[in-house]
Amino acid sequence: MRIFIFIIAALTLASVVRSDDNTASRWVSYSNNPVIEARVDSLLQLMTLEEKIGQMTQFSANWSITGPVMSDDFKPYLEKGLIGSIFNATSVEGIRSFQKYAVDSTRLGIPILFGQDVIHGYKTIFPMPLAEACSWDLELIRRSAEIAAIEASSDGINWTFAPMVDISRDARWGRVMEGAGEDPYLGSKIAKARVAGFQGSDDGSRIGDLNTILATAKHMAAYGAAEAGRDYNTAELSEHTLRNVYLPTYQAAVKAGVATIMTSFNEINGVPATADRWLLTDLLRDEWGFRGFVVTDYTSINELVPHGVANDEKHAAELALNAGVDMDMTGATFIKYLSQSVEDGNVRIEDIDNAARRIIEMKFLLGLFDDPYRYLNEERAKQNTMTPEFMATARRAVASSVVLLKNDNDLLPILKESGKTIALIGPMIKDSINLNGEWAGLGDRNQSLSIFNGLNEKYKNSSVNFIYSEGSSITETTPSKIDEAVATANKADIIIAAVGESFHWSGEAAVRTDIRLPEPQRELLRALKETGRPIVIIILSGRPLDLSFENENMDAILQAWFPGTQAGHGIADVIAGDYNPSGRLVMSFPRNVGQIPIYYNQKNTGRPVDLSDEKVDYRSSYIDSSITPLYPFGYGLSYTTFEIGDVKLNKSRMQATNDSIEVTAMIRNTGNRNGELVAQLYIRDLVGSTTRPIKELKGFKKVALNAGETKEISFILTSEDLAFYGIDMKKRTEPGKFKLWVSQNSMDISNEAEFSVE
Ligand code: NOJ
Repeated sequence: MRIFIFIIAALTLASVVRSDDNTASRWVSYSNNPVIEARVDSLLQLMTLEEKIGQMTQFSANWSITGPVMSDDFKPYLEKGLIGSIFNATSVEGIRSFQKYAVDSTRLGIPILFGQDVIHGYKTIFPMPLAEACSWDLELIRRSAEIAAIEASSDGINWTFAPMVDISRDARWGRVMEGAGEDPYLGSKIAKARVAGFQGSDDGSRIGDLNTILATAKHMAAYGAAEAGRDYNTAELSEHTLRNVYLPTYQAAVKAGVATIMTSFNEINGVPATADRWLLTDLLRDEWGFRGFVVTDYTSINELVPHGVANDEKHAAELALNAGVDMDMTGATFIKYLSQSVEDGNVRIEDIDNAARRIIEMKFLLGLFDDPYRYLNEERAKQNTMTPEFMATARRAVASSVVLLKNDNDLLPILKESGKTIALIGPMIKDSINLNGEWAGLGDRNQSLSIFNGLNEKYKNSSVNFIYSEGSSITETTPSKIDEAVATANKADIIIAAVGESFHWSGEAAVRTDIRLPEPQRELLRALKETGRPIVIIILSGRPLDLSFENENMDAILQAWFPGTQAGHGIADVIAGDYNPSGRLVMSFPRNVGQIPIYYNQKNTGRPVDLSDEKVDYRSSYIDSSITPLYPFGYGLSYTTFEIGDVKLNKSRMQATNDSIEVTAMIRNTGNRNGELVAQLYIRDLVGSTTRPIKELKGFKKVALNAGETKEISFILTSEDLAFYGIDMKKRTEPGKFKLWVSQNSMDISNEAEFSVE
């Protein structure tokens, strides 16, 4: 050990040599700390070209669920000190063995950066991100990322490939489960909360604290805009839509100090993101000021060949580096080809230096050069895993992510003293394997609490009695299974059926063209309906489903997503009324797959539809369906009811810059239970230099109100909140008239006000 320690002790600031060649990408350090910059530079001077490229190379430790590992034989690279980062290496012991090798047995002993997909929890699995977003609870969302960071960093992980901040308007796409839904405003707030949770602050200043990990905003860009919802597919988007809808969430992550950005697999407007210099350098670095490093998504450099923009993998590596990629995830193209590319004059050595600098700087910030083993401590790992507090937070997260979509005759909650007999039916009622969803991290699927067990525990000393029959598996049933379920249901006062998707049907490469419940489950529900017993269904799914049939035929619907480790407890809390549901949808639920893409912040068109009579000819409507969603963005019921009124603005005009309006409203709990309201502030810019959405979320408040209680809430709407990229593609607030609503969901127009911008 190792020259590097000596160098670090001996370095002087004078050793900084930096390329200011303005044809190469500039290095602006993340830390802006001259001591760290000097340490990075002095190490760089000792490195061979190949060693620098090695830092830009990441391998997966073994087979991963996310795809084929191209360079499974990465050991020779490890031995030569040509690996900057490894992912999917798990456990303190496993990580220590790799780290020890890198530190003790390679020429410069540069420590390795360990990454992992810690998406919604590491061992304590939280609700899938789309579900958690439905809580509209930014502090809870931040805390769940923080807990994931504590658990992961205690296991030696330094870096997560999360949050996914891709806007998604297409429920067919399986990866909607990983994001925060369809809205750029809410998505940006959640992006910031998640980055802050993982990295310990929303300005990057806590990177290197023992309980934090580096975050990655992914997948840049517009991965969620894949045509037809087909994963990896082409995104064809105007710059207008890109900037106003798809890019703000990535930029919010950058503003929150996200350490890394992952490129997306898709092309946008003819250019694959991984080869897009405009996206990765002009926009990301020069316009937004991003100072971390850019990693590819998996083999997306190699994929530039089938995309048809690279002749071969060497050419692909050159395109990616020249676009602004710093690290190649698993594709091994940089390490195989870039030395030759330098010799051929196809890439600049300055760009390689800068990429290596960015990666090495993160290692300095994490403290890995001072102590490569600082995150590796078995005792700490044990203490920081699935603690009672983490489990309690996860349980609360489950309860607050559940969205109550329908509740006829106040069927829910089912009180403990109700004395009812309840038939528990359906493929998901006893299931624990699916509950963690597709990105289960290191969560043990067998440890996730089933709804069956959660309910039994909840009602154990009560007058409620449970009987059970499965009725159907996720994809299959038989007449006898259905008969059995019906016989069980006939003995009950109420049916609770847990139905849904297999966890494999969402996440990466899991796209559905039919987003209804599988036919055997609907057959079961039809048979249960015949019993005449009231039915509550709990839906477990990785996406918004087409629930038209269920909405028509079931009495109560709880959308529970994939809730993670504490599923059974959190859902039982809601069913029993110990938690009053407060979740609100962050993606519109379509009436049928033909409406997709469907989202609340759509444009008016020149022939808008009167929603009270959608059948008028030659309007932007359907002849066989309404244009409205089944359940809109922002929608969700509670066991109580709320009213919003007295919306007031402190002034009716504001300046286009540096001004603000205060919006106040009275909110009232009009029912007889305590509950939480998500008050949502929407605006409409009536006339713009380009067309504007019919509604845009610009603020929200989640407020607890006791039964009968009234509170005043206020929002500050700034002139900057109204800015958008208009006809000249400059971001500004345009003068004119605006409408404003304080609403319970995106289709609620009961509280309207107006103001203007001058
Ligand atoms: C591919 C996925 O698209 C990405 O989100 C993930 O982080 C990587 N694989 C690594 O597993």
